[in-house]
Amino acid sequence: MRVIIKPDYDTVSKWVANYVVYRINKFKPTKDKPFVLGLPTGSTPLGMYKELIKMYNERKVSFENVVTFNMDEYVGLKPTDKQSYRYFMEETFFKHINIKPQNIHMLDGMTKDYEKECKNYEKDIKEVGGIHLFIGGIGADGHIAFNEPFSSLSSRTRVKTLTESTIKANSRFFDNDISKVPTTALTVGVATILDAKEVIIIATGENKATALKHGIEGSINHMWTISALQMHQHGIIVCDKPATKELSADTVEYFLDIEKNNF
Ligand code: PGA
Repeated sequence: MRVIIKPDYDTVSKWVANYVVYRINKFKPTKDKPFVLGLPTGSTPLGMYKELIKMYNERKVSFENVVTFNMDEYVGLKPTDKQSYRYFMEETFFKHINIKPQNIHMLDGMTKDYEKECKNYEKDIKEVGGIHLFIGGIGADGHIAFNEPFSSLSSRTRVKTLTESTIKANSRFFDNDISKVPTTALTVGVATILDAKEVIIIATGENKATALKHGIEGSINHMWTISALQMHQHGIIVCDKPATKELSADTVEYFLDIEKNNF
């Protein structure tokens, strides 16, 4: 696992955006050989999306031949609902770039057949040849996508019940009213994420420090699904200084030293 430690949120966002652009451009995607990107929602990736839009406007990258798969969607929210992840993605990213609508994949939280929807999502990922780069954030409880504590580390796309801690954390997007937050979501599984050729997890702010400690220094354990990243051959955690607060000084020094001349 690589751990990139940057001073603050802005430098983290810039690093990740630059890396995404580097990967897309190096791949030289075409219509028949698109670059496949896994994408998150939430507060953490906002800076990355802003930076990607800026780089797109500066013609440093094109999303014409990029295919995307989002991590998750709330059950029961329509794409036009302002709190749905579909709406978030349109407003935050997709409407500002040249991605083709048919290349965007998001789970349908309004489906009547969850099992079929989730199975088809896995099938669609497979059919396009797998995800090249999956980007995600983490919850304070260590979840990646909506794989809450005690999710199977070999889980696939499915319906998950959200924990009280996640519902509380996400109520900030629902007028701080816990009763408005959906209690279930469709989410890719831990194994779906680990199948990607490369995975970047972004963690910023002190409230992610405990999760980061378990993910980097702890053992692989379903209590902290982020820890499954230790099994990935190309897993990268990009974090700011406050998020490293609970790591040992030796761990921080090790990664600062080993990464000092890298991208
Ligand atoms: P956040 O959420 O980026 O809004 O902190 C991350 C997550 O819950 O995965």
